[in-house]
Amino acid sequence: MLLKRYGVFEEQLLDPHIHDRQDFTSGITALDEYLHRFAVQQSKKGVAVVRVLIDTNMPKTILGYYSLSAAQINAVQMDERTQQKWPRYPVPCFRLGRLAIHLAHRNRGLGRILMGCAVDRCLEAKKHVAAYALVVDAKGEDTKSFYEHYEFTPCRDNPMAMYLSLGT
Ligand SMILES: CC(C)(COP(=O)(O)OP(=O)(O)OC[C@H]1O[C@@H](n2cnc3c(N)ncnc32)[C@H](O)[C@@H]1OP(=O)(O)O)[C@@H](O)C(=O)NCCC(=O)NCCS
Repeated sequence: MLLKRYGVFEEQLLDPHIHDRQDFTSGITALDEYLHRFAVQQSKKGVAVVRVLIDTNMPKTILGYYSLSAAQINAVQMDERTQQKWPRYPVPCFRLGRLAIHLAHRNRGLGRILMGCAVDRCLEAKKHVAAYALVVDAKGEDTKSFYEHYEFTPCRDNPMAMYLSLGT
């Protein structure tokens, strides 16, 4: 399925012919530059799948975006209980490479919608390709607390690397 609707909001695959990437500002240069300059290229190359959130009343405006890729992490980075379940080889995961909401649309629950979209996509994908968790690299303390809010667990060797178990 290419798109999902949440009231007036819709999750769509990033399409350079429709979505106005240059207008997007999250306030974090690296996240803006990624969308402006690299996201389309990376999607074409199969490095990441990038999805955007739009309001159907203004379909060109990107309210937020996220990217997902396949990933792996070492079992030793995970909590002790999880470690015991896994042999000592890399654990298959998905990576939430980036997630950002437009500065002008913060604190409206859009981050929650996008996070839900990303997790839903992983749960769908994991029906076909096994993966244990969704991993993310928090870019700073504020971001880390956002992921903690969604019950991501910090890795043992690097608390800025975090994971969310996708259940069984
Ligand atoms: C982090 C970010 C995605 C949140 O988006 P948002 O649309 O403002 O967040 P929402 O309004 O949907 O908030 C969802 C929930 O997260 C909580 N939340 C938001 N930012 C938070 C933070 N920094 N720390 C802890 N909780 C946070 C909200 O209180 C809300 O909780 P509730 O649903 O229980 O009431 C947004 O601030 C952003 O784009 N930041 C810059 C980019 C960034 O840091 N991206 C993540 C790393 S790549």
